[in-house]
Amino acid sequence: MTKEERYEQLTAQIKSLIEGETDAVSVMANVAAAIQQEMGFFWTGFYLDKGDCLHLGPFQGPVACMRIAYGRGVCGAAFEQRQTIIVPDVEQFPGHIACSSLSQSEIVVPIFNDDGEPRGVLDIDSRELSTFDTTDKHYLEQICTLLGRI
Ligand code: SME
Repeated sequence: MTKEERYEQLTAQIKSLIEGETDAVSVMANVAAAIQQEMGFFWTGFYLDKGDCLHLGPFQGPVACMRIAYGRGVCGAAFEQRQTIIVPDVEQFPGHIACSSLSQSEIVVPIFNDDGEPRGVLDIDSRELSTFDTTDKHYLEQICTLLGRI
């Protein structure tokens, strides 16, 4: 299967998983599991805005840092800039927060509420360099749009 085909399958699965669901934590927990299962990344999870900083939300993978200040690391930067950030090599990203030395590249996608305000981010890490491209960005942004409605 190509990456596009895997993402098409994943998106369909996520649409049916979240159909009629209203609890954000339950939905994010299953979405993290579905992405991780389908795509085989190293770490997939959410950081959510709680008013003081971004707090660790539902995730799949090794334990991770629990709080990220606005503007800090890739997650804080994507949240503050309100745009997806792709990092081909985490060593080259100034201020990258290394939760695991095994993570080498990552993508962070903001999640917006109905008012267009960011409420958190989806953070995905890979053990390999340069894992993420515009295909990942396209599909993951689509998934985050679905999540923003819950
Ligand atoms: N890499 C992130 C920190 C979170 S962990 O990777 C799970 C960052 O710099 O924002």
